[in-house]
Amino acid sequence: MELDPRNAALAAQAADTAGLHSVEVRVGDAALTDQYADLVPADLVLICGVFGNISGADVRATIGYASALCAPGGTVVWTRHRRPPDLVPRICHWFAEQGFEQRWLSEPGDGFGLGVHRFTGHPRPLRPGTRMFTFVDNGTP
Ligand SMILES: C[S@@+](CC[C@H](N)C(=O)[O-])C[C@H]1O[C@@H](n2cnc3c(N)ncnc32)[C@H](O)[C@@H]1O
Repeated sequence: MELDPRNAALAAQAADTAGLHSVEVRVGDAALTDQYADLVPADLVLICGVFGNISGADVRATIGYASALCAPGGTVVWTRHRRPPDLVPRICHWFAEQGFEQRWLSEPGDGFGLGVHRFTGHPRPLRPGTRMFTFVDNGTP
């Protein structure tokens, strides 16, 4: 889900070139729960390029929504930079609070933050008509 049609076209092209023909790139606001109505509960949820562009409160809220996006046993892959204040330890704590177990986490010295968490809790219904987060900039690093 990508807001910028040019970025979405590049992503679709890259997926096609990689032979990932079942990947569908959608143009739209990824923050809106209604975008996922026909996709939940999902076995794989990618929250990549998001946590570095929203407030800590929105990161925590979005992790709360992950338990409604994920099927039981489903996996979330997320990214976040490691610049101070390093939010990664708190992100892991917030996933644990929501019933996710950590499967993999990049090392602090890796130069990036990437985590893989598996949902072991009971899924909640995804609340329709809701904004999960607000980008604080246009996503430019
Ligand atoms: C930091 S970049 C991340 C790009 C890519 N996902 C990655 O991880 O390399 C942020 C991207 O989010 C897009 N974006 C910003 N607000 C968005 C929103 N509300 N819904 C979907 N995409 C959004 C921007 O157009 C930009 O392409």
